[in-house]
Amino acid sequence: MVTAYVDGRYLPLAEARVSPMDRGFLFGDGAYEVIPVYSRRAFRLDEHVARLANTLGAMRLPNPHAAEEWKALILELVARNPWDDQSVYLQVTRGADTRRNHAFPGPEVKPTVFLMSEPLVTPSAGQRASGIAAVSAADIRWLRCDLKTVSMLANCLLRQHAIDQGCMETVLFRDSFLTEGAASSIFVCKDGVLLVPPKSHLMLPGITYDVVLELARSHGMKHAVREVLEAEVRSADELWMTSSTKEVLAITTLDGRPVGDGKPGPMGRQMHAWYQDFKNTVMRNG
Ligand code: PDD
Repeated sequence: MVTAYVDGRYLPLAEARVSPMDRGFLFGDGAYEVIPVYSRRAFRLDEHVARLANTLGAMRLPNPHAAEEWKALILELVARNPWDDQSVYLQVTRGADTRRNHAFPGPEVKPTVFLMSEPLVTPSAGQRASGIAAVSAADIRWLRCDLKTVSMLANCLLRQHAIDQGCMETVLFRDSFLTEGAASSIFVCKDGVLLVPPKSHLMLPGITYDVVLELARSHGMKHAVREVLEAEVRSADELWMTSSTKEVLAITTLDGRPVGDGKPGPMGRQMHAWYQDFKNTVMRNG
């Protein structure tokens, strides 16, 4: 049985309910996190809880829990679910008012808190061996992409744009610069240097993005955090997508053209190996 959590209660996911008046449903007025769990240890939990607090603060939604309470809720949900490796989804909305009104409700309306967990599915051996196909599109999202809100229509349209073409991810450009993927961070390798745009209001501050840069730094892989031109992406030797669930995954075709020689490259293979090693030695052992 899959256990979820809604507003103070753990219950079977199939029995979980929220009101249709919930502002998450009516307005997409909520924040979320996706937290990978390895061997029942939530990876970078402090960082995920801090990112949630940052999103809630920017949304002017009072955080319903202190960091320690969030951590206890998440770990209890992990303990109540059957898998060792999980992907915990956590959502907070501005709650359910009695009327539909764009303006925020009064303090009597409490935020809705929902958590669920799924088995963590990382890329298959086949996807890792051949890499994945991506397309590109203009980044049509708003100017607060640093916030992890549930207002995800643009991301869904952009991801579906890839799926419709038999691809897995859409690489986004704004004004001829790389931002990120529809649901991932994008790294570029050019002439032996790993490139990634700096964090800004135009991209999500990825937890995996941080891990990849830390690994590059600690192992001495040449890297630069700077604006990346669309032209540099199109002439890259390697492209990777990274996220909590996709880890480090090579993109081997972009818009139907091969990236580099069309196979996962040496820098990506190296980073993937460092990431797996880090996962098995650090993440699984707390
Ligand atoms: N998405 N950028 C966007 C737009 C994302 O949606 C995600 C992750 C990332 C990578 O962030 P992280 O490394 O912290 O997972 C970057 C999650 C997995 C999702 O929406 O399911």
